[in-house]
Amino acid sequence: MTPHSSSATPVAGRAQLHKPALLHALADPALGAISFLNEVIDRFPQAISFAPGAPFAKFFDDLDVARHIERYERHLVEDKGLTPARAKRRLYQYGPAQGVINDLLARALRIDHGMDVAPEAIVVTVGCQEAMVLALRALCPTPDDLLAIVNPCFVGIAGAAKVLGIDPVAIDETSSGVDLGALDRACIAARRDGQRIRALYVAPDFSNPSGTLMDLPTRHALLAAARAHDFLLLEDDAYGFTAESGSALPTLKALDAEGRVIYLGTCAKICLPGVRVGFMVADQEVVDEAGKTTLLASELTLIKSMLTVNTSPICQAIVGGMMLEHDGSLAAVGREKALLYRRNLRHLLDALSRHLPPALCAQQHVSWNEPQGGFFVRVRLPVVADYALLERCAARHGVLWTPMSSFFLDGAGRHELRLACSYLTPEEIDEGVARFARFVADDKLMRSS
Ligand SMILES: Cc1ncc(COP(=O)(O)O)c(C=O)c1O
Repeated sequence: MTPHSSSATPVAGRAQLHKPALLHALADPALGAISFLNEVIDRFPQAISFAPGAPFAKFFDDLDVARHIERYERHLVEDKGLTPARAKRRLYQYGPAQGVINDLLARALRIDHGMDVAPEAIVVTVGCQEAMVLALRALCPTPDDLLAIVNPCFVGIAGAAKVLGIDPVAIDETSSGVDLGALDRACIAARRDGQRIRALYVAPDFSNPSGTLMDLPTRHALLAAARAHDFLLLEDDAYGFTAESGSALPTLKALDAEGRVIYLGTCAKICLPGVRVGFMVADQEVVDEAGKTTLLASELTLIKSMLTVNTSPICQAIVGGMMLEHDGSLAAVGREKALLYRRNLRHLLDALSRHLPPALCAQQHVSWNEPQGGFFVRVRLPVVADYALLERCAARHGVLWTPMSSFFLDGAGRHELRLACSYLTPEEIDEGVARFARFVADDKLMRSS
C-alpha cells in the first residue's frame, strides 16, 4: 500500500479537473505521505505512536497566550514609545511583510548563538516552511539552478522543492554530517552539464530524521566548499535547542564570515507549532544591473508579500512576549522543553537496549543509532519497513512508526524506520518499546518481505 489522497465521490453535473493537467508534483506519493501517516494513526487509536515529531502536548496546559501578547504590547509602549492605540494597531492590522519582531529575534540570535545579525536581515515567516519556499523560489529561478539536499531529509524541504518544480540533487548524510566528496563531485558534474548548484539544504544539529550532529571540522569544510563552488547553505536549526547545555557546536551561520549561510529558524518546537512563526536570516548582498545593492532579506520579503502578505502579528506577539519574559533569549524559552526532550531521548534509547538485548538484535538483525539530541532514532530491520508493514505492526502489536524511505530522495532507506520520542510520556515510551520489541521478535513479520 502506498500513501494516497482521500477520495471523493463524483457528482453528475459537476466540473472535473484532470490530474495530469495539474501540478505534476501532486501525483508524487511523497506529498501524500504525511496525511497517510495521520490516517493510519487515526485508524489505530489504541496504538502507541512513535510517528509524529510533534511537541509534547502537556506543555500547552500552562500556556497563557493572552499574557504573552500583553507582555509584547507593553514592550511596544514602554520600550518602543508607541501610544497604546498604535501598539494595538501593530497587532491587529495588516503588518509589514518582513515582520514585527525582527529586532527581538536579532537580539535572541546574539544572546543564544553569538550571531551578529541586523534586524533588517531577518524575515519573519509563516513557519520555517515558508522560509524554505522563499529561499528556493528566489535562488532557483531556472531549471539549471539546482538545489542540493543532504539525504535523508525533512519532508518539508523535499516537498517544497517538488511543489516549485525544482529537481533536488541528493548528497548523502554521513556520521560526521555530509559526504563532502559527493558534494564536490555533484558541483563539478552540474557545471559540466551547464547547470549550477545554487544551495545546499542541511540541518547540522540533530537532523530530522537521523539525529545526526555535524562535527566542527565538517562545518568548516562545508563553508569552504560553499566558497569554492560558490553556493549558499540553507541551515535548518529546528533541533539545535535540544543540545546538552554547554555542548552546543557553533551554528554554520555563527561561523559564516562571508555571508554564505541563510539561517532558517522555527518557533514550532521552542514555543508552539500552532503559532506558525518561523524566520530566516538572509544577510547576503544583492546587486542589481544598475549597481544598486539591497539585502537578500528585502528581495525575499517581496516574494513573501505576494505569498502570505505578512506573518500574523498576533502570533509574532506571542513569540515576542515569550522572549521578553525570558530576558530576550529564545533558547531560554525552550530550556525546560529541551530538558524533557533529552530525558525522553535517553529514555527511548535505554528502553530499546532493555527490551531488545544484543542476543535478540543479533538474531533478528536489528540495530539503531544513538543520537545525542533531537527527537529521532533510526532503526534498521531485516525486512522492508514500508506502509504495509506499518499497518500490520499497528494491527498486531499496537505500535506506530514512520518508514524511513519517506525521508529519502532516492528511494533508499527501505529497511529502516524512524522513532520519534517528543510526543510521549516516559511510561508511554516504555510500553511502546515493549510492543516494538514484540514486533521485532514476531517472525511472521520479520521474515515476510
Ligand atoms: C527539520 C525541520 N525543520 C523545520 C520544521 C518545522 O517547520 P515549521 O516552522 O514550518 O513548523 C520541522 C518540523 O518538523 C523540522 O523537522
